[in-house]
Amino acid sequence: MTTAETRSINPDVDAIRHHYEVGNDLYRLILGPTMMYSGGYWEDGEDLVATLDEAQERKLDVFTDLAQAAGKAKVLDIGCGWGTMLNRLTTVHGVQQAVGVTLSRTQADFVAALDNPAIHARVESWEDHKADGEPYDAAFCINALEHFVLSSLTPKERTQRYRVFFKQVHSLLKPGARFVLHTMTVENPPLRRQLLDDLKFLQREEFEGCHIPRLPELAAGLDGLFEVTEIRNEPESFARACRAWLQLLAARRDEAVAMADETTVQRFERYLDIFAYTLEDHIFNNFRVTLTRRA
Ligand SMILES: C[S@@+](CC[C@H](N)C(=O)[O-])C[C@H]1O[C@@H](n2cnc3c(N)ncnc32)[C@H](O)[C@@H]1O
Repeated sequence: MTTAETRSINPDVDAIRHHYEVGNDLYRLILGPTMMYSGGYWEDGEDLVATLDEAQERKLDVFTDLAQAAGKAKVLDIGCGWGTMLNRLTTVHGVQQAVGVTLSRTQADFVAALDNPAIHARVESWEDHKADGEPYDAAFCINALEHFVLSSLTPKERTQRYRVFFKQVHSLLKPGARFVLHTMTVENPPLRRQLLDDLKFLQREEFEGCHIPRLPELAAGLDGLFEVTEIRNEPESFARACRAWLQLLAARRDEAVAMADETTVQRFERYLDIFAYTLEDHIFNNFRVTLTRRA
């Protein structure tokens, strides 16, 4: 749901659903049992597929520490996917209530089927979310911000939109609360024909209209609202996840085609490979940013 005021500059809900509502079974085949659709923390030399679940859980636990979320009353996950972070916060880290927002109805159904009364995924856009009662004690946004701002906006409008995002998160959190963000960013890409074709494919066909942010856009958006407590670039975390998912997909390709269709599977193969190599070549970054809400 979006308000009339924001609808014209929001990413198209249908574009998000085009990607996320191809079926939970297909995603399970590609992502493995943890159903995390973002970077993981592998140790050097570890087998990518054999340690996929461990790498994802390690990431969630590091994020929980950074957000100082363990044992807290209320935690928010913006762009919560299939609810893995919500579930881990409440079953492993003693969080009393974890709320997620997603635009995907199939993801929300999946979270409901986890049958954990301490977690809840709402089908709503980040700007429409309101905390029931007290503000949140901590928040996460894990590889979802890449969907939140349209590439068709002018640079000035995009900066304004990131500002709206950080203002919204600020308003949802208690003073001093932590917000941990994992997001891809992009520098000026080199002008290579294949790369330009691949970026066009990402933007026009797979993630229609989505804008991968630039670091200065984020810095302008959060200025005065949050203190930057830690920032690090870890492109290998997402590149390795893409490589692991590609291996899982290759191993069960026939099943994947039966679940979806050949075109869908080819789309996944192409875009996962583009993300993997652009992150490996440092054309895309994947920044982990730990923020502390200013009073
Ligand atoms: C790449 S997935 C990441 C999911 C999860 N954070 C994870 O790490 O597995 C991006 C998520 O952002 C959600 N999303 C996209 N646009 C959104 C919006 N405007 N408001 C809320 N969620 C959104 C998608 O529905 C999806 O759940």
